[in-house]
Amino acid sequence: MASLKLMNPLTIRETTIPNRIVFPPIQTNYAAENGEATDRLIRFHKTIAQNNVGLSIIGATGISPFSKIGDHALCLYEKEQISSVEKLFKAIKEAGSVPAIQLNHGGRVMNPDLAGGKLVGPSAVPSPATGNTPHELSAEEVQDIIDNFVQAAVNAKNAGAEMVEFHGAHCFLLNQFLSPLANQRKDQYGGSTENRARIVKEILRKAREKVGDKFIIGLRMSVEECVDGGLTVDESSKMVKMFVDESLDIIHVSAGGLDLEPQILTEVWSWKKLVNLAGDIKKQVDIPVIAVGGILSLNQAESVIEEGLADMVAMGRSLVADPELVTKTLNGKLDEIDECTYCLQCFAPSEDPGMTCSVNENL
Ligand SMILES: Cc1cc2nc3c(=O)[nH]c(=O)nc-3n(C[C@H](O)[C@H](O)[C@H](O)COP(=O)(O)O)c2cc1C
Ligand code: SF4
Repeated sequence: MASLKLMNPLTIRETTIPNRIVFPPIQTNYAAENGEATDRLIRFHKTIAQNNVGLSIIGATGISPFSKIGDHALCLYEKEQISSVEKLFKAIKEAGSVPAIQLNHGGRVMNPDLAGGKLVGPSAVPSPATGNTPHELSAEEVQDIIDNFVQAAVNAKNAGAEMVEFHGAHCFLLNQFLSPLANQRKDQYGGSTENRARIVKEILRKAREKVGDKFIIGLRMSVEECVDGGLTVDESSKMVKMFVDESLDIIHVSAGGLDLEPQILTEVWSWKKLVNLAGDIKKQVDIPVIAVGGILSLNQAESVIEEGLADMVAMGRSLVADPELVTKTLNGKLDEIDECTYCLQCFAPSEDPGMTCSVNENL
């Protein structure tokens, strides 16, 4: 196990990530109702980070009062939230992992209560999942949202993160702008590939101006929408190249999202569907690529690196089920691993707010 390529470090800008294993963004709903980090959230990430996970990305974090996707989701726009997140990043760093955070606005798929009663989107097109039709953002309102993303990136940097990941996946707001289905705008933010990509380009450009040259900027993108007429990997590749021109450092390849039926989404996120899409993107760009989806073992993860499909490999549910999976594998204790059964309990909303797992009772 010692000779795994997976365990080689990777340097991006001035940060050296100790190995290629990533904990991907998972919105646990473990934050306080006011968006501050809690001891539970810190403990959750620390336990994973201290078990040989090179990069820890905190799940979808709200960038403004009406952007969060869970009633107990983390937020990063107020002073108290920022100082609470400092403790979270510090704990991850001390555990030996590089702290990163995903920044998100939910857009039209949000719970209307969390959106302050006013859902927003690129166009007044209903979400297939919820049937809710958002208010079409004006060009001025788009600028406000760009500023919110950029300020949240600055806040993350000031709180000690070494990387932000803008959330352009899973049918949330940025994904809605990239999509030829959700985005029917006639202005500079809709229509052509370039126009639909514009909001992300502007966020990347402005964020880079503010966070400087040492900070890592990433993007997660659903490169296939998996519906007729939706974004395809061919068009996504063109967009990713545009984002690289705006100094994007790393791309995290996903597909589909909340607007798909849960059983279809489960199928899309299975081994080796997403991983192969990562390989398609990797052929097109020179920046590091993160692959994810249905990876249960370090053998599978190593094969992704070995086959040249990606530079880093994210393991989500498998590390929720057993945060010590990597350590146990490296120590040859494979029979002690508590394997994720893909039962999907972690997706289900629970009364007591916060993600639960049928395998891991210590959450
Ligand atoms: C409970 C739960 C919450 C998730 N939250 C997020 C999130 O906040 N942002 C995101 O981009 N993906 C989120 N995901 C998707 C994961 O990051 C990952 O891409 C997906 O689970 C597939 O990888 P896996 O098979 O290794 O779990 C979530 C997944 C689960 C199970
Ligand atoms: S709840 Fe089920 S699917 Fe989710 S991590 Fe646990 S075992 Fe895996």
